[in-house]
Amino acid sequence: MTKYISLLNGPNLNLLGTRNPTQYGAATLDQIVHRVDEEAKKFGHTIWAFQTNSEGDLVDAIHKSVREAVGIIINPAAYSHTSVAIRDALECMAGPVIEVHLSNIAAREDFRLHSFVSPVASGVISGFGSHSYVLAVQAMAELLK
Ligand code: DQA
Repeated sequence: MTKYISLLNGPNLNLLGTRNPTQYGAATLDQIVHRVDEEAKKFGHTIWAFQTNSEGDLVDAIHKSVREAVGIIINPAAYSHTSVAIRDALECMAGPVIEVHLSNIAAREDFRLHSFVSPVASGVISGFGSHSYVLAVQAMAELLK
């Protein structure tokens, strides 16, 4: 089986394009996935993209990625700030894990300052809008060399 990079997106990111564009930009999730796909191809990688609004489904997608993927790029969205379950699942990943945020979570409300995911991530990219995802693929390709 060809190994792939998992691109996982958490709750409310299906609404990108219309959801708080001042904070999250105008690009839809489909457009972002397409852009990530194109970028990954440049490095010879393929992408499996998955979005869910449910914590358990996100944990299941991480488990699938632990079994099948070479790396995980994840925007856990609000679960970054709340979910020990997602943190624990990501800890099982042998390959690189990159945490992505469209907005700069360090410059927002206090409750966004803490991420349960960051300590188990290889690195965090935050604050560059949809370009955060492109930077994440480039960083992932570098880590997978
Ligand atoms: C987000 C930041 C989170 O705080 C927020 O809950 C999101 C999106 C981002 O990409 O900037 O849903 O992960």
